[in-house]
Amino acid sequence: MKILGIVGSKRKNGNTYSLVQEALRVAQEEGATTKLIILGDYSIKDCTGCEGCKDTYKCVINDDMQKIYPLLLEADGIILGSPTYFYNISADMKAFIDRCYCFEVFAEDDRSCWLSINEALGGKYAAVIAVCEQQDEKDMGFTPKAMSKPLEALGYRVVDTVKVFNLFKAGEALKDNKSLEHASKAGERLVRTIKLKKDVETKIKELKIG
Ligand SMILES: Cc1cc2nc3c(=O)[nH]c(=O)nc-3n(C[C@H](O)[C@H](O)[C@H](O)COP(=O)(O)O)c2cc1C
Repeated sequence: MKILGIVGSKRKNGNTYSLVQEALRVAQEEGATTKLIILGDYSIKDCTGCEGCKDTYKCVINDDMQKIYPLLLEADGIILGSPTYFYNISADMKAFIDRCYCFEVFAEDDRSCWLSINEALGGKYAAVIAVCEQQDEKDMGFTPKAMSKPLEALGYRVVDTVKVFNLFKAGEALKDNKSLEHASKAGERLVRTIKLKKDVETKIKELKIG
């Protein structure tokens, strides 16, 4: 089982990085193979809305996102982490999410009818981690939903949403046991959910259901 962690902060060893890493550490303990990527290490252009992906489910922009697509396709589960920037996700995370539009499929004659290729492939799982400086949930704004809503549209069931407040300086997350614990639970739940899915798939075959 493969879990991919995706960090939307450019701060190396920042709070988002530490919490995604913690979730992956526990996912690995639970038996997953894990990989962490920092979007800032990749050159990811904005989606141009050209619709060039619609026949092939592949984006036509030739940049580093082409290195990330195979990682997404092979991962059984993903963890998206973003700091709150002005009540929303970071620009890196937004650019990444928009570039996943190539995985959305619309009926030719009715755009209200759509699904994602992940749904067609049997559905996947995700967790999100949102990190902000202020203490009040309203100051986190749209950050968690700005990740979980697109993930759902992309065919991921979001099994945990970690909302972390009161972290400002890079590295503070490592001293915040409550946040670390919540991140680790998210990693654990993600792996356990995927294991359960695999068990149920086997049992369905044995029971000859469907
Ligand atoms: C451009 C910018 C905008 C920010 N906007 C908010 C905000 O709206 N609400 C908030 O609570 N914190 C805000 N912050 C603080 C960060 O979310 C906080 O420092 C977080 O811990 C950074 O995570 P990182 O260490 O992973 O980069 C902002 C920080 C920056 C640089």
